[in-house]
Amino acid sequence: MDLNFDSTNALIRLRRSYYPNEFISNEEIDASVLNELLKNALSAPNHKLTKPWKFLIFSGLEAKKKLREEMLRTFEIQNKNVTEIAQNKIETNINKSSAVLLLSLKYSDLVPQWEEDASLGCAVENLWISLRSYGLGGYWSSPSYFINQTRLVSDSYTCKGLFYIGKIDLEAEKPAKDFDDFSTFVSWI
Ligand SMILES: Cc1cc2nc3c(=O)[nH]c(=O)nc-3n(C[C@H](O)[C@H](O)[C@H](O)COP(=O)(O)O)c2cc1C
Repeated sequence: MDLNFDSTNALIRLRRSYYPNEFISNEEIDASVLNELLKNALSAPNHKLTKPWKFLIFSGLEAKKKLREEMLRTFEIQNKNVTEIAQNKIETNINKSSAVLLLSLKYSDLVPQWEEDASLGCAVENLWISLRSYGLGGYWSSPSYFINQTRLVSDSYTCKGLFYIGKIDLEAEKPAKDFDDFSTFVSWI
């Protein structure tokens, strides 16, 4: 397969966070598209092939309702009451998204935990950079109240946040980063 480095570089460098209030439609994403995105996620490297990850898909009214209720429940546990602002944010984020993924993983004890955190990060990045070809965007959200309290994850899995996905306006695409600070992060030895 002939892969062009220009398009590979562009794909990676144009990856940005797109937030639900920037989504232009919350139309449901075909299951076949979500499956392709998740196959890319599952292609991530993982030491000793522990495949520590698990993704729960919230798409459609019923699933979104379940997520909304759980977010409100967990917010209330941590903060005693749910403010109108918090409730609006939770509802807007879910309603404006086409799908929300709950990111979770199970530590295997075969490798240090940070390695499995890293594998999940690689999996999410794979999915993140795959969105654009489908006209989609998204962002990784890590609200501590939800991560610490949710009961939506299976036993022995740890929640690592939510990933919101929706349709974006490619005409109004965010710019790639500049590399003014390149030498801060890269040194030749
Ligand atoms: C593990 C992880 C957790 C994140 N959690 C949040 C979050 O809770 N809220 C948020 O606004 N952005 C969150 N982000 C997105 C970052 O804020 C975002 O990537 C950063 O601002 C750089 O912007 P870019 O993604 O457009 O390059 C998270 C990103 C990562 C990798």
